Amino acid sequence: MSVAAKTQLSHEQIKPKIGQRILNSKEELLSGELAGELRELLEQRGILLFPQINFTTEEQVAFTETLGTFAPEGGDGRDVTKITLDVKENPSSAEYLKGSLYWHIDGTRNDVPILASLLTCKVPSPKGTGNTGFCNTYAAYDDLSDADKARYEDLHVMHAPWASLFYYEPEPSLAKLKMMQSIGEKELPLVWTHKSGRKSLVLGCTSRNVIGVDPKESAEIIVGLREWATSEQFSYSHEWSVGDLIIWDNTGTMHRAEWYDPDCGRMMLRTKLEGEEAWA
Ligand code: OGA
Ligand code: MN
Repeated sequence: MSVAAKTQLSHEQIKPKIGQRILNSKEELLSGELAGELRELLEQRGILLFPQINFTTEEQVAFTETLGTFAPEGGDGRDVTKITLDVKENPSSAEYLKGSLYWHIDGTRNDVPILASLLTCKVPSPKGTGNTGFCNTYAAYDDLSDADKARYEDLHVMHAPWASLFYYEPEPSLAKLKMMQSIGEKELPLVWTHKSGRKSLVLGCTSRNVIGVDPKESAEIIVGLREWATSEQFSYSHEWSVGDLIIWDNTGTMHRAEWYDPDCGRMMLRTKLEGEEAWA
Protein backbone atom coordinates (compact mmCIF):
# COMPACT_ATOMS: atom_id res chain seq x y z
CA MET A 1 0.00 0.00 0.00
CA SER A 2 1.47 3.34 -0.93
CA VAL A 3 1.04 6.30 1.38
CA ALA A 4 1.40 9.83 -0.02
CA ALA A 5 4.44 11.52 1.51
CA LYS A 6 3.52 14.24 3.97
CA THR A 7 4.73 17.69 2.93
CA GLN A 8 7.72 18.67 5.05
CA LEU A 9 8.16 22.19 6.32
CA SER A 10 11.51 23.45 5.06
CA HIS A 11 13.01 26.39 6.91
CA GLU A 12 16.18 28.05 8.22
CA GLN A 13 17.02 30.64 10.84
CA ILE A 14 17.54 34.30 9.92
CA LYS A 15 19.02 35.45 13.26
CA PRO A 16 19.29 33.54 16.57
CA LYS A 17 16.59 35.59 18.33
CA ILE A 18 14.30 36.54 15.46
CA GLY A 19 13.16 35.33 12.08
CA GLN A 20 12.79 32.15 10.06
CA ARG A 21 13.05 31.81 6.30
CA ILE A 22 10.51 29.40 4.79
CA LEU A 23 11.67 27.51 1.70
CA ASN A 24 8.55 25.58 0.67
CA SER A 25 6.91 26.11 -2.73
CA LYS A 26 3.83 28.20 -3.36
CA GLU A 27 1.81 25.02 -3.98
CA GLU A 28 2.90 23.45 -0.69
CA LEU A 29 2.00 26.63 1.19
CA LEU A 30 -1.38 27.03 -0.48
CA SER A 31 -2.32 23.41 0.27
CA GLY A 32 -2.79 24.46 3.90
CA GLU A 33 -1.01 21.28 5.07
CA LEU A 34 1.74 23.26 6.74
CA ALA A 35 -0.53 25.82 8.42
CA GLY A 36 -0.33 24.36 11.93
CA GLU A 37 3.47 24.15 11.89
CA LEU A 38 3.75 27.63 10.38
CA ARG A 39 1.59 29.07 13.15
CA GLU A 40 3.80 27.45 15.79
CA LEU A 41 6.98 28.65 14.14
CA LEU A 42 5.56 32.17 13.82
CA GLU A 43 5.01 32.35 17.56
CA GLN A 44 8.48 30.99 18.28
CA ARG A 45 10.40 33.11 15.77
CA GLY A 46 8.39 36.37 15.55
CA ILE A 47 8.51 36.70 11.78
CA LEU A 48 8.42 34.30 8.84
CA LEU A 49 9.97 35.33 5.51
CA PHE A 50 8.89 33.71 2.25
CA PRO A 51 11.54 34.97 -0.20
CA GLN A 52 10.18 35.84 -3.66
CA ILE A 53 7.15 33.59 -3.21
CA ASN A 54 5.32 35.90 -5.65
CA PHE A 55 1.78 35.29 -4.47
CA THR A 56 -0.91 36.95 -6.58
CA THR A 57 -3.44 39.00 -4.63
CA GLU A 58 -5.86 36.05 -4.66
CA GLU A 59 -3.15 33.67 -3.49
CA GLN A 60 -2.18 36.01 -0.64
CA VAL A 61 -5.81 36.06 0.52
CA ALA A 62 -6.09 32.27 0.17
CA PHE A 63 -2.82 31.70 2.04
CA THR A 64 -3.91 34.06 4.82
CA GLU A 65 -7.11 32.07 5.18
CA THR A 66 -5.19 28.82 5.70
CA LEU A 67 -3.56 30.31 8.82
CA GLY A 68 -6.57 31.62 10.75
CA THR A 69 -9.49 34.00 10.42
CA PHE A 70 -9.10 36.63 7.71
CA ALA A 71 -9.46 40.11 9.24
CA PRO A 72 -11.10 42.53 6.77
CA GLU A 73 -9.62 46.03 6.81
CA GLY A 74 -12.47 48.38 6.06
CA GLY A 75 -14.13 48.11 2.67
CA ASP A 76 -15.72 44.89 1.61
CA GLY A 77 -14.51 41.62 3.04
CA ARG A 78 -11.62 39.60 1.69
CA ASP A 79 -9.33 42.08 0.10
CA VAL A 80 -5.75 43.28 0.38
CA THR A 81 -4.82 46.75 1.67
CA LYS A 82 -2.35 48.95 -0.21
CA ILE A 83 0.46 50.10 2.07
CA THR A 84 2.24 53.17 0.71
CA LEU A 85 2.99 56.71 1.83
CA ASP A 86 2.03 57.91 -1.66
CA VAL A 87 -1.14 60.03 -1.19
CA LYS A 88 -2.12 59.54 -4.83
CA GLU A 89 -2.31 55.76 -4.30
CA ASN A 90 -3.56 55.90 -0.74
CA PRO A 91 -5.60 59.08 -0.20
CA SER A 92 -7.40 57.81 2.89
CA SER A 93 -4.52 56.45 4.96
CA ALA A 94 -1.15 57.72 3.67
CA GLU A 95 -1.25 60.35 6.41
CA TYR A 96 -1.97 57.83 9.16
CA LEU A 97 0.82 55.56 7.83
CA LYS A 98 3.41 58.22 8.69
CA GLY A 99 3.28 56.72 12.18
CA SER A 100 4.38 53.37 10.72
CA LEU A 101 7.90 54.81 10.33
CA TYR A 102 8.32 54.40 14.09
CA TRP A 103 8.38 51.15 16.10
CA HIS A 104 4.85 49.98 16.76
CA ILE A 105 2.35 47.18 17.25
CA ASP A 106 -0.67 47.20 14.93
CA GLY A 107 -4.09 47.94 16.43
CA THR A 108 -3.26 48.76 20.05
CA ARG A 109 -6.78 50.22 20.44
CA ASN A 110 -8.47 46.85 19.97
CA ASP A 111 -9.42 44.63 22.92
CA VAL A 112 -8.13 41.68 20.94
CA PRO A 113 -5.20 42.86 18.83
CA ILE A 114 -4.59 41.50 15.36
CA LEU A 115 -2.80 38.14 15.54
CA ALA A 116 -0.57 38.69 12.54
CA SER A 117 -0.08 40.76 9.42
CA LEU A 118 1.14 39.52 6.04
CA LEU A 119 2.98 41.99 3.83
CA THR A 120 3.94 41.36 0.20
CA CYS A 121 6.32 43.54 -1.76
CA LYS A 122 4.95 44.54 -5.18
CA VAL A 123 7.35 47.45 -5.85
CA PRO A 124 10.42 47.94 -3.63
CA SER A 125 11.86 51.36 -2.86
CA PRO A 126 15.41 52.22 -4.00
CA LYS A 127 18.14 50.24 -2.22
CA GLY A 128 19.03 51.62 1.20
CA THR A 129 15.51 52.93 1.84
CA GLY A 130 12.17 51.39 2.76
CA ASN A 131 13.35 48.29 4.59
CA THR A 132 10.98 47.02 7.24
CA GLY A 133 12.44 46.53 10.71
CA PHE A 134 11.14 43.90 13.13
CA CYS A 135 12.03 43.09 16.74
CA ASN A 136 11.12 40.20 19.01
CA THR A 137 9.38 41.43 22.16
CA TYR A 138 9.20 37.92 23.70
CA ALA A 139 12.99 37.57 23.46
CA ALA A 140 13.49 41.11 24.74
CA TYR A 141 11.38 40.32 27.81
CA ASP A 142 13.04 36.94 28.41
CA ASP A 143 16.52 38.51 28.46
CA LEU A 144 15.69 41.22 31.02
CA SER A 145 17.30 40.82 34.44
CA ASP A 146 15.12 39.41 37.22
CA ALA A 147 15.18 42.85 38.89
CA ASP A 148 13.87 44.53 35.72
CA LYS A 149 11.21 41.84 35.27
CA ALA A 150 10.01 42.53 38.82
CA ARG A 151 10.11 46.29 38.24
CA TYR A 152 7.96 46.15 35.09
CA GLU A 153 5.63 43.28 36.06
CA ASP A 154 2.58 45.29 37.15
CA LEU A 155 3.00 48.50 35.16
CA HIS A 156 0.41 49.73 32.69
CA VAL A 157 0.85 52.13 29.78
CA MET A 158 -1.69 54.38 28.08
CA HIS A 159 -1.50 53.83 24.32
CA ALA A 160 -2.81 56.53 21.98
CA PRO A 161 -2.38 57.16 18.25
CA TRP A 162 -2.27 60.87 19.03
CA ALA A 163 0.98 60.26 20.94
CA SER A 164 2.56 59.01 17.71
CA LEU A 165 1.46 62.17 15.85
CA PHE A 166 4.24 64.13 17.58
CA TYR A 167 6.89 61.79 16.12
CA TYR A 168 6.26 63.02 12.59
CA GLU A 169 4.57 66.36 13.22
CA PRO A 170 5.96 68.07 16.34
CA GLU A 171 3.70 71.15 16.02
CA PRO A 172 0.33 69.91 14.74
CA SER A 173 -2.73 72.12 14.45
CA LEU A 174 -5.28 71.74 17.23
CA ALA A 175 -7.76 70.39 14.67
CA LYS A 176 -5.34 67.63 13.68
CA LEU A 177 -4.56 66.78 17.30
CA LYS A 178 -8.27 66.49 18.03
CA MET A 179 -8.81 64.35 14.96
CA MET A 180 -6.09 61.92 16.13
CA GLN A 181 -7.45 62.00 19.68
CA SER A 182 -10.88 61.05 18.41
CA ILE A 183 -9.44 57.70 17.28
CA GLY A 184 -9.25 56.72 20.96
CA GLU A 185 -6.74 55.41 23.47
CA LYS A 186 -6.33 52.32 25.57
CA GLU A 187 -4.58 51.26 28.76
CA LEU A 188 -2.44 48.16 28.22
CA PRO A 189 -0.15 46.08 30.42
CA LEU A 190 3.57 46.74 29.85
CA VAL A 191 4.20 43.02 30.17
CA TRP A 192 1.70 40.78 28.38
CA THR A 193 1.28 37.35 29.95
CA HIS A 194 -0.03 35.19 27.12
CA LYS A 195 -2.25 32.13 27.56
CA SER A 196 0.81 30.03 26.76
CA GLY A 197 2.50 31.45 29.86
CA ARG A 198 5.12 33.25 27.75
CA LYS A 199 5.53 36.99 28.30
CA SER A 200 6.24 39.82 25.87
CA LEU A 201 6.73 43.57 26.14
CA VAL A 202 3.97 45.88 24.88
CA LEU A 203 5.68 49.02 23.56
CA GLY A 204 5.70 51.30 20.51
CA CYS A 205 5.18 54.89 19.41
CA THR A 206 1.61 54.80 20.67
CA SER A 207 2.95 54.56 24.26
CA ARG A 208 1.88 57.85 25.83
CA ASN A 209 2.82 57.35 29.48
CA VAL A 210 3.27 54.75 32.18
CA ILE A 211 0.28 55.04 34.50
CA GLY A 212 0.96 56.37 37.98
CA VAL A 213 4.62 57.17 37.34
CA ASP A 214 6.03 60.70 37.11
CA PRO A 215 6.58 61.93 33.51
CA LYS A 216 10.37 61.81 33.67
CA GLU A 217 10.53 58.23 34.91
CA SER A 218 7.72 57.25 32.53
CA ALA A 219 9.75 58.52 29.55
CA GLU A 220 12.86 56.72 30.81
CA ILE A 221 10.97 53.43 30.97
CA ILE A 222 9.38 53.81 27.54
CA VAL A 223 12.58 54.99 25.82
CA GLY A 224 14.82 52.55 27.67
CA LEU A 225 12.70 49.50 26.86
CA ARG A 226 12.30 50.56 23.23
CA GLU A 227 16.07 50.89 22.94
CA TRP A 228 16.52 47.45 24.53
CA ALA A 229 13.83 45.64 22.53
CA THR A 230 14.97 47.07 19.19
CA SER A 231 18.70 46.48 19.79
CA GLU A 232 20.68 44.42 17.28
CA GLN A 233 20.27 41.05 19.04
CA PHE A 234 16.44 41.13 18.98
CA SER A 235 15.87 42.86 15.64
CA TYR A 236 16.06 42.28 11.90
CA SER A 237 15.81 44.78 9.04
CA HIS A 238 14.47 43.32 5.81
CA GLU A 239 15.53 44.65 2.44
CA TRP A 240 12.64 43.81 0.15
CA SER A 241 12.79 42.09 -3.23
CA VAL A 242 9.75 41.93 -5.49
CA GLY A 243 7.49 39.07 -4.42
CA ASP A 244 8.83 38.68 -0.86
CA LEU A 245 6.19 37.99 1.78
CA ILE A 246 6.70 38.46 5.52
CA ILE A 247 4.30 37.48 8.28
CA TRP A 248 4.83 39.01 11.69
CA ASP A 249 3.35 37.82 14.95
CA ASN A 250 1.76 41.11 15.98
CA THR A 251 1.44 39.85 19.56
CA GLY A 252 5.16 39.23 20.06
CA THR A 253 6.96 41.73 17.84
CA MET A 254 7.16 45.40 16.93
CA HIS A 255 7.84 46.65 13.41
CA ARG A 256 8.43 49.85 11.47
CA ALA A 257 8.97 51.00 7.91
CA GLU A 258 12.37 52.63 7.42
CA TRP A 259 12.37 55.96 5.59
CA TYR A 260 11.51 56.04 1.89
CA ASP A 261 10.49 58.75 -0.56
CA PRO A 262 6.65 58.74 -0.69
CA ASP A 263 6.87 59.30 -4.46
CA CYS A 264 9.31 56.45 -5.19
CA GLY A 265 6.58 53.96 -6.07
CA ARG A 266 7.09 51.59 -3.11
CA MET A 267 3.97 49.43 -2.95
CA MET A 268 3.18 46.72 -0.42
CA LEU A 269 0.00 44.67 -0.07
CA ARG A 270 -1.21 43.65 3.37
CA THR A 271 -3.65 41.11 4.76
CA LYS A 272 -4.30 40.44 8.42
CA LEU A 273 -5.35 37.62 10.71
CA GLU A 274 -7.97 38.25 13.36
CA GLY A 275 -6.64 38.23 16.92
CA GLU A 276 -7.30 35.23 19.11
CA GLU A 277 -6.19 36.51 22.52
CA ALA A 278 -6.98 39.68 24.48
CA TRP A 279 -4.22 41.73 26.13
CA ALA A 280 -3.56 40.44 29.64
C1 OGA B 1 2.03 47.88 8.35
C2 OGA B 1 3.35 48.53 8.47
C3 OGA B 1 5.52 48.76 7.44
C4 OGA B 1 6.10 48.91 6.06
O1 OGA B 1 1.65 47.52 7.23
O2 OGA B 1 1.34 47.72 9.38
O3 OGA B 1 3.67 49.03 9.52
O4 OGA B 1 7.31 48.66 5.91
N1 OGA B 1 4.14 48.47 7.38
O5 OGA B 1 5.38 49.31 5.13
MN1 MN C 1 2.17 48.51 11.13
